[in-house]
Amino acid sequence: MTLEAIKYQRGHLDILDQLLLPFKSQYVSINDTESAWIAIKKMQVRGAPAIAIVGCLSLAVELLNQDFDCVDEVSSYVSSKLEYLVSARPTAVNMKEAADRYSNLVKELALSKTEMVESIKQKMIDEFEQMFIDDVSTNKSLSDFGCEAILDITEQKPAKVLTHCNTGSLATAGYGTALGVIRKLHERNTLEHAYCTETRPYNQGARLTAYELVFEKIPSTLICDSMVSMVMKTKNITAVVVGADRVVQNGDTANKIGTYQIAIAAKYHNIPFFVACPSTTFDPNMKTGEEIIIEERPANEMSSIKGVPIAAEGINCYNPAFDVTPAELITGGIITEFGVFKPESIYSVISSEKNQRKK
Ligand code: MRU
Repeated sequence: MTLEAIKYQRGHLDILDQLLLPFKSQYVSINDTESAWIAIKKMQVRGAPAIAIVGCLSLAVELLNQDFDCVDEVSSYVSSKLEYLVSARPTAVNMKEAADRYSNLVKELALSKTEMVESIKQKMIDEFEQMFIDDVSTNKSLSDFGCEAILDITEQKPAKVLTHCNTGSLATAGYGTALGVIRKLHERNTLEHAYCTETRPYNQGARLTAYELVFEKIPSTLICDSMVSMVMKTKNITAVVVGADRVVQNGDTANKIGTYQIAIAAKYHNIPFFVACPSTTFDPNMKTGEEIIIEERPANEMSSIKGVPIAAEGINCYNPAFDVTPAELITGGIITEFGVFKPESIYSVISSEKNQRKK
């Protein structure tokens, strides 16, 4: 049995409510782009790839029963709904990447004059559904590359890997990115142990990654974020693997808050630090991490847990949801479905792979 965070059949979309995990498994129906926007904002679904997939599938559901008078109307409807979905959370680029790609496609179809309204609608629904299917195979191939890269370090002996936040089945269409690499090592009997951080303030590690690791019976231990350096010093960690919300031209990478300090600690302890993400997490429009907009979440997500206060009343809170790890700290490389690359070459590699795909 695998964890199914997104359940989709044409016309029906349900998501596992991640606010209730690990204590309750309950699905929420997403009937249109507005309910998807709310679920993304509230973080009932989260993780850069999953946000984009749920956003696009919600539009697939909405389009099914929508009537249009002309092809231009379909085109502007699709583009404006996609842009609306982008506005739910600003840092993860995958929804924006999907919005740009599919807006261009729908415009091309509308301009071609050979397509009728119904066929454009159907083509867009097919595309959104294909994106959902492709994400799993992308994750499996990047996980293969990540697994190989880590086994090169250990000379094929079992590895000990540390990860941060949640990058597994719950953050993607399935299998996962950084957690996919861990899963792959485990499948090949080459994982000695996985360490996952709690990931304060929202506890994606304690609630979601720990849940996935237990579910998959992967040998693993939960640690508080403040224990990372100690664990690196004493537990003989082979490598750190984390996910990404946005990788920019120079390889600087935005990911869950706390990633940056883990990368600094890894450098100090000489532990290779890898970022694992699909090519859709790459943003060719930004040169450096300085340009990335970092989402700030409400203070109460930090000062209380499930409505129970855990901080002194009246204290000011600063709650950035992400930070940027400079490329020079990504010492292991960036793991993608095309292979593992040094951050400084990621721009040219991904651009040329994408150009090849267009041909
Ligand atoms: O705020 P979240 O839970 O959406 O943040 C998730 C992360 O930062 C993940 O590491 C990232 O999206 C990669 S998910 C494969």
